[in-house]
Amino acid sequence: MRLVQTLTLCLALLLSLAAPSHQQESQDKKDKPHADGHQHELHHGAKLDRCAGMEFDAVAVNEEGIPYFFKGDHLFKGFHGKAELSNETFPELDDHHHLGHVDAAFRMHSEDSPDHHDHQFFFLDTKVFSYYKHKLEKGYPKDISEVFPGIPDHLDAAVECPKPDCTDDTVIFFKGDEIYHFNMKTKKVDEKEFKSMPNCTGAFRYMEHYYCFHGHQFSKFDPITGEVHGKYPKETRDYFMRCSHFGSKSTDEHIEREQCSRVHLDAITSDDDGSVYAFRGHHFLSITGDKFHSDTIESAFKELHSEVDAVFSYEGHLYMIKDSDVFVYKVGEPHTHLEGYPKPLKDELGIEGPVDAAFVCADKHIAHVIKGQTIYDVDLKATPRVPVKEGSITQFKRIDAAMCGPKGVTVVFGNHYYIFESPMIMMMAKILPEQHRVSQELFGCDH
Ligand SMILES: *[C@@H]1O[C@H](CO)[C@@H](O)[C@H](O)[C@H]1NC(C)=O
Ligand SMILES: *[C@@H]1O[C@H](CO)[C@@H](O)[C@H](O)[C@H]1NC(C)=O
Repeated sequence: MRLVQTLTLCLALLLSLAAPSHQQESQDKKDKPHADGHQHELHHGAKLDRCAGMEFDAVAVNEEGIPYFFKGDHLFKGFHGKAELSNETFPELDDHHHLGHVDAAFRMHSEDSPDHHDHQFFFLDTKVFSYYKHKLEKGYPKDISEVFPGIPDHLDAAVECPKPDCTDDTVIFFKGDEIYHFNMKTKKVDEKEFKSMPNCTGAFRYMEHYYCFHGHQFSKFDPITGEVHGKYPKETRDYFMRCSHFGSKSTDEHIEREQCSRVHLDAITSDDDGSVYAFRGHHFLSITGDKFHSDTIESAFKELHSEVDAVFSYEGHLYMIKDSDVFVYKVGEPHTHLEGYPKPLKDELGIEGPVDAAFVCADKHIAHVIKGQTIYDVDLKATPRVPVKEGSITQFKRIDAAMCGPKGVTVVFGNHYYIFESPMIMMMAKILPEQHRVSQELFGCDH
């Protein structure tokens, strides 16, 4: 007897924890290489390592929702990876301000001004630059006072506040402890006092929340009142970065970080008893009933070490795929690695690695392995195991992780997940089902 009821209950509980979201903003790239912690030479010889703790000059998402973190003349794209020179992506920033840094940046969101909608704006000293798809708009750079009359030069931070978050489409500017609301429609400027806010050096809107960066910490704030609710500031490296050698000290902090991190998952699975295991970088989160546990992968799955590509559960074992190898652990306290593993993925399932995701639905013995948009079926009872190309998922270019449970197949991409009733329905889907949030709805993060 499978404990399907337990799983149903467990998922129902988790899924009821938060309201659904309707906007996809995050598409963190799953370029797997172990890029975190790497260092990059600055032109003046200093090392730029965001995992060492860093105060950013500006933060903004691009038109695809990928966050850009600016520091000096460098730029970090996404939640992990090396710094690049900003002028490689935005060459004109350099023409006017050699060796400068970006003071502030935001992505415009304005339904009332389609000319500006989704453009990235950068502020350097007295100038503003507007880019769309990494191309400088004609006529830019312009004086800040021309485009945003009433807004001072030499800003510290900026963030968009579209309707209905703000009454009208608005841009919030920060300079020292002064805060300005610029109404895009009327061009009216309101000076605000955000008493509980630290001075921000960068700010951005992400997943419909507003974040102010200060030092190597951040605070989530209400864009209208400037109030900071909850336990802030928090450490930027815990939530917006993937750093292998950085972690909070206590178990509770581990759990909260894994619940609430916006960094994409590497793999997820639910086992026969309904426990969910989610893997991200060097850590994992497990959920059994309403009990959460989090630790390093190294401590529970020593042989695997870190950064798994895909995991599926089958007959009391976790099959964990990393690059072109398969590791198999018997689920238990502690999990034990089976003799003879890791084995090449090619020998075990007949598939060349790396793969993106894998899952087995309860009572079936078919492993569905997803690589890019292709799904392979492998009959786990057959010898030898031969993959059959089952079909493709057309709704996604690639996915981060997937698992199968009583409700169907959960597909995770970036900060969102989608539930399909069956693998067949997943492949035939012409439109995406309702979008859910990973942190809130799957892991019960409360902020
Ligand atoms: C980009 O910036 C670096 C360092 O500031 C400089 O050496 C390089 O010449 C710049 N490249 C371009 C294309 O402007
Ligand atoms: C915030 O900025 C103001 C200037 O606007 C400055 O006087 C104050 O010291 C700053 N606070 C901190 C904590 O840096």
